Amino acid sequence: MRKVSLYEPDLSGNELPYVVDCLNTTWISSKGEYIGKFERAFADFVRSDHAVAVCNGTVALHLALAALDLGPGDEIIVPTFTYIASVNMIALRGATPVFADCRPDTWAIGRAEVEPLITPRTRAIMAVHLYGGMCDLAELRALADRRGLKLIEDASEALGCFWSGRHAGVWGECGTFSFFGNKTITTGEGGMVVTNDAALAERLRLLRGQAQHPTRRYWHVELGFNYRMTNICAAIGFAQMERLTKLLERKRAIASQYRDRLRQQDVQFQSRPPEIESGEWLVTVLLPEDVDRDAVMDCLNQYGIESRPTFYCAHHMPMYETQSALPKSEEISRRGISLPSHPLLSDDDIAEVCDRLTSAIGKCPVEQSARIRFA
Ligand SMILES: Cc1ncc(COP(=O)(O)O)c(C=O)c1O
Repeated sequence: MRKVSLYEPDLSGNELPYVVDCLNTTWISSKGEYIGKFERAFADFVRSDHAVAVCNGTVALHLALAALDLGPGDEIIVPTFTYIASVNMIALRGATPVFADCRPDTWAIGRAEVEPLITPRTRAIMAVHLYGGMCDLAELRALADRRGLKLIEDASEALGCFWSGRHAGVWGECGTFSFFGNKTITTGEGGMVVTNDAALAERLRLLRGQAQHPTRRYWHVELGFNYRMTNICAAIGFAQMERLTKLLERKRAIASQYRDRLRQQDVQFQSRPPEIESGEWLVTVLLPEDVDRDAVMDCLNQYGIESRPTFYCAHHMPMYETQSALPKSEEISRRGISLPSHPLLSDDDIAEVCDRLTSAIGKCPVEQSARIRFA
């Protein structure tokens, strides 16, 4: 049976020759020309002054929080509806994550969700942009400035996303990206921190490399990390950047086909306010209230179509469990399903996913789900 996977990276450009070049020249660790090339190409694309490559998107967040000196005693407001790394890195710094609910249409945060949570201990807001949607960055930037807070953007999923013409990640003091295999561009594992602040960029580079003094070898000026990216990963990333515009074109076309084909269905897409130009990372919809999501996913799977549920809310996880109800996030978490969205999908693949999804929705009302699952 043919498989329609949720994600497959397109590595058909210069990825192979550039990796072979690393092997031939023996520059396989974190020194070598591709690191600088990749960082510059990335900074140019998102229009940030600085880009610092690291070994994944999780440590990109950790490094950003450390470079901004956020830690014990500090409260950081973060959406509960996010991938867990956003929250875990706050906790790992010894700071306290304070959970915000999200908007029911954009599945992201803005001023109204964040401002009531600000206390005298609040030091920062972490804006997370999920699936191709975006937080209201104009509102959050203005709020952070007015209340003297830092803004950090977890833009792991937001490559190719612009708010009022400015790329995600460059509205905050720092923005972070992930290059895991299912992201818009991949380096296998990898991440990036971007900033327009030269002093901050220097500190990010210092902490990334064990905080080793720039000229005095083995002298470490503070507590640092080894979060460096390898030249091999950067070579893949640089090759991916050469084709980013094409990849985004295809991803936007795929998303628009899904929207057209599922227009008549009772599914809810993440909304795209007029300020957004989306990179359309992963097409994700909310299923109707009365449909059993797990049964729908099982049904798709029977036809070789891979799908994913939306994230669980962080405030429900054992390590963060709180009594508070954050109902909009809980609903999105309960009803959401991500559909195959990679650039190698054909138009026929998308048509098939939409047809199978439509029939699965019809076959999987909540009350029948147990019977279908165990049939
Ligand atoms: C919103 C968000 N934050 C952080 C990360 C962590 O990135 P990585 O998997 O590269 O560590 C991801 C990746 O899946 C993500 O989607």
